This record gives sequence, C-alpha cells and structure tokens, in this order.
Amino acid sequence: MEYVFILGRDYELSILELVAYMQKNNIRFSIKEMSPLAAIISTDESFKPKTAIKSLGGVVKIGEVLQNIDEAYEGDKNKIKYAISSYGKTDITRIQEDIKKSFKKQKIKAFYKKPKREKALMPNEVIKQKLIEGGVEFLAYNEYLAKTVAAFNPFEHEKRDQEMPCKDYLKTISIRLAKILINLSQAKNSLLDPFCGYGIILQEAVLQGINATGMDTDKTSVEAAKKNLEYIEKKYEIKAKYEVIQGDSRFLSRTVKEAEGIATEPCLGPYLKQMPSLEEAKKTMKELETLYAETLKEAKKVVKGKIAIIVPRFQTKQKKDVIMDFNSIIKGLGYKTWQPIKEIKTPVIYPHGWIIREIWVIE
Ligand SMILES: C[S@@+](CC[C@H](N)C(=O)[O-])C[C@H]1O[C@@H](n2cnc3c(N)ncnc32)[C@H](O)[C@@H]1O
Repeated sequence: MEYVFILGRDYELSILELVAYMQKNNIRFSIKEMSPLAAIISTDESFKPKTAIKSLGGVVKIGEVLQNIDEAYEGDKNKIKYAISSYGKTDITRIQEDIKKSFKKQKIKAFYKKPKREKALMPNEVIKQKLIEGGVEFLAYNEYLAKTVAAFNPFEHEKRDQEMPCKDYLKTISIRLAKILINLSQAKNSLLDPFCGYGIILQEAVLQGINATGMDTDKTSVEAAKKNLEYIEKKYEIKAKYEVIQGDSRFLSRTVKEAEGIATEPCLGPYLKQMPSLEEAKKTMKELETLYAETLKEAKKVVKGKIAIIVPRFQTKQKKDVIMDFNSIIKGLGYKTWQPIKEIKTPVIYPHGWIIREIWVIE
C-alpha cells in the first residue's frame, strides 16, 4: 500500500519519527519521496493508519494513494461531503473535473466543501466535517492523488491539556513533542524519563501501552506527575504500569534497574526571562554538560535501546550561540548517533522558543 504522509512543521523530525515508528513496529516500508510538505511511503499490510496517527506527533494527515479515482468512496450515495486539499504546486482544476465525473458515473450525490483558508483543509476541519468516515477528502500532492484515511485530532490534545490536574506550561513540553520523542526512542515495553517534570512523556507512554518510569529531584514535580498519571489511569483505563521516583538522575542506576529506552527533555538551565549574556550562557552550559554526561553514564548501565534526548543551544545577547559539545560527551561514553537516512542530518533542530532544542537519538 502506498501512503502520502502530510507532515507538520519540522518535517525532518517528522520523517525521522516515521522511520522510527515503522522500525519499532516491524513494518516493512520504503520511502519513495520526501519534501518539507509530505513523504510518500509504501508499507506492508501491517501498517494501520488510524492506529499510527494516534501515536505520531509529527504527521498531520495520512492519505491512501488512489490507483483509480472511483475507489475513493464507497457507502451511502446520498449527500456526501467532499473536499480537495492540495499541497505544493498541484493544480486541481483537472482533478476537480475528474472527481465530478467519477461521482456522476457512480450516481453519488456529493457536495463540495471549500477549505476555510488557502488550498488545504486543516485537520480540525477534516475531523469536524467527518470527512473520513462519512465523506471524502482528496489529497493532491505532485502527481499523487490520495484520500485521507487518518487525520491528527487536535481536539484530543486540547482536551487532555485542559483536563490535566497539575500543569505548569513553563516546565512542560507539548504532547506533540512528547509523542515524537517516544517514537524516536523506539521503546515498546518500558520507557524511562529521568527528568520527568509533570510527566507529559510518562502520560503519553502509558497511553500507548508502554510501562513508564519517571525520575525528578523536585518533590512538587514528582507529586504532580503522580497526580497526572492517576488521572490518566482512571480516565483512559490504561493497563501499562508506571512509577515516579524522587531522585537524582546522576545516580539513576541505584533505583532503576532496567529500561528499554529513554525519552527525555532534561533540565535546560534556569528559566530565562530575557536572552542571556554570552558569559551567563557559557556558565549554564558548563553545568548542563556535567549533568548530561553523568546521567548518560548512568543510563548506559540500565538502558538497552535508544535514547531520544533534547540538548539546549542558547542564543545570547552578543548574537553568538552557545552549543553543547554533545558529540564528545557521547563518544566518550561509547554511544553513537542513530542516523537512519543520509538525507537527514542529525541532530535535528527544533527552533521554537528562546532556547533552541537539538533533538538527538543515540544508542
Ligand atoms: C524541562 S523539565 C522536564 C519536563 C518534562 N519532560 C515534562 O514535559 O513534564 C526538567 C526537569 O528536570 C528536573 N531535574 C533537574 N535536575 C535533575 C536531576 N539531576 N535529576 C532528576 N531530575 C532533575 C527538574 O526538576 C525539572 O522538573
């Protein structure tokens, strides 16, 4: 089966996440094309788009490539809604005509739903308009025409964000980034977040059926993570187990004996109200280098698989970035970077906010 994956921002990260997802689930796949907008990937039958979209943080829509336009819709032939989302430079005039002809031939009464803005429907429109279950969204990308079979549901993330009992947006990463890190770690059975904070990564892991262990030095964070996990456990009837330990990750092997992988955003230095000076940034980076090196040394004793980890890069008042020499740290400890495709250079940069994040996957 051939699929069009419409990618979110940070497309390189989205592609790496897709590769990790396929590898972790033993899905045979090959990437036929990729661009900042989309990836065309053929997969074996074991790939399930509706399951995948729930776990992927970097994919907006998944479309099944149509060999024949008449295959796009089967079901009630009365008053179905359809839309065309065009990505890139695809001219849809001819496609529109072909779709109309196909519906007419099949005696389907179909009504066109125009995108609210630009050329493509946002995923929330696809969900609201029920285009996957009761209609069709055509995806036009280069010479490919596909129909959407799964779309990211932003309402689920919003709901989870609102309902979470303990929150502190300054300290927590987004659900989207948590999903990406978990997939990059390729952990299937057990995951460790040694800097768990309020536990966004842990929550996401247990929702995906992965047993999760979190560690944090801060008592308030540990309690908040526990409350958040208890809430998730009740609300979503999860079966995966979890544990949150108050402790210092520089000594994590004293309490954690084994984990398949790590997904984590460690401490990124003090909360910044303004851009630091070069001197301040260098001082913080030195401290963080020690924290990262000591934690990764400990992780080596307990982690069997991959470590997906965020490394900060500070912008400074002097317009000079302060970068961690993470390569030397990992080499010294015997890790190497996971670099599955030569076209995508790692680490991938996640440039949102004051602190630029480098996303590393090491093993
Ligand atoms: C950026 S936050 C993690 C956010 C978390 N990923 C989330 O989304 O909720 C970093 C956390 O690392 C914790 N921390 C700092 N130094 C630590 C250490 N040596 N061992 C364990 N936790 C530490 C801090 O207390 C803080 O809660």
